[in-house]
Amino acid sequence: MELWHIRGEKRLCGAVQVQGSKNASLPILAASILAPQRCELYNVPQLRDVDAALRILRCLGCVAEQQGNTVYIDSGTLSGCSIPHSLMEEMRSSVIFLGALIARCGEARLSLPGGCQLGKRPIDLHLAALRELGAEIEEDGTEICCRSARLHGTEIVFPFPSVGATENAMLAACAAKGETILHGAAREPEIVALQDFLGSLGAEISGAGTDTIRIGAFRPCGSTAQRIIPDRIVASTLACAAASAGGDVMLQGIDPRHFSTVLYFLNKAGCDIMSTDHSARIRSSGRLCAVGPVVTEPYPGFPTDAQPVLMAAMLQARGRTLIRETIFENRFRQVPELRRLGADIDYCGRTAEVRGVPRLHGAALTATDLRGGASMIVAGLSAQGETVICDDGHITRGYECFDSRLRALGADIWLER
Ligand code: EPZ
Repeated sequence: MELWHIRGEKRLCGAVQVQGSKNASLPILAASILAPQRCELYNVPQLRDVDAALRILRCLGCVAEQQGNTVYIDSGTLSGCSIPHSLMEEMRSSVIFLGALIARCGEARLSLPGGCQLGKRPIDLHLAALRELGAEIEEDGTEICCRSARLHGTEIVFPFPSVGATENAMLAACAAKGETILHGAAREPEIVALQDFLGSLGAEISGAGTDTIRIGAFRPCGSTAQRIIPDRIVASTLACAAASAGGDVMLQGIDPRHFSTVLYFLNKAGCDIMSTDHSARIRSSGRLCAVGPVVTEPYPGFPTDAQPVLMAAMLQARGRTLIRETIFENRFRQVPELRRLGADIDYCGRTAEVRGVPRLHGAALTATDLRGGASMIVAGLSAQGETVICDDGHITRGYECFDSRLRALGADIWLER
């Protein structure tokens, strides 16, 4: 159990280097199975989910090591195509190994993935895309067995731009004979990062960042190296923390275009935002006004992963903020915990209403999930007195050295393990 102790009401000031993206690292780690030779990845955050992906690679027979923020992988020694349940249940994105394994081995055996409990998280779109590429899939509700003597290029139309299903289809399509065209694909920066990595491995792939991705021939080339893009959700979390606690924070090593919708709302709420290509400065008096309505949408819309942290930033904002969650059915799990701090929030179904209160007071909270836990940190930083968040390891799945990064900005926060 991890305990986050926060003494709130400290202004946040200074510069902070934002970590590499968890959600870009994980599919790239799975994709490394397709690398014909050794690959090196830089700026990989040291996180539980990354560690879980490395353990999956090692279990498959690959060499996979992390030293600091650099990961070395050699999948030349890959010897298996099944992943045990104990590893699959650690995180949702373990399902991306399905597309990578079917591409590399023509076979994959794994169980249904774990991950944050955000409501139903089916993988029907993943499986439908793989079937259209020619994979034969048997599933019995717990195990998935996927085989294909030969995948063939095809046109796939996604009814919803699922991030994971797009990634799985991109990976499997690398081994298909002929061109594959994905229509209605997810457009997230992490998809572009995966395209860049697959391109560096020798895939003919284009269109990521739009809703149409084309995958042609895969001609494996030599060893490769790639730098992981900055984490737009960690950047959003730090920006929301600076906005609500007040202060003057420079986020470095980021791409502000990746979370421009979050910066837009913080600016509307009264923050002064100055961006360059690789940084964003957030200046806030801490006295915000309500914004919205905020509606979560697939990229480039407002990210569902930033919804809980923006909600936390709005708890003391003057007025009423309406938030509508359209991606996950159960992403207001932080609300009962935030209420313990004195927050005035109601929600019904997928819509929440935050009515700003003059003051929050510290309390004992329990982290419900990764971003819900992060929202409690943001709220605790601007609450009066001490907040203690009891966490079963959710927050450290996605935030690297978050306590020391916030301490460097002047926050009074420490993590007790
Ligand atoms: C990715 O999850 C991210 N995870 C999530 O981040 C993020 O919240 C999500 O995309 C949306 O942006 C990683 O990248 C590792 P989806 P993913 O498939 O791929 C439904 C975080 O906090 N759906 O786009 O699982 C699904 O139920 C995490 O870092 C189907 O119905 O997201 C959900 O309602 C949490 N059938 C919606 O689509 C499917 O086959 C979005 O899911 C697949 C998805």
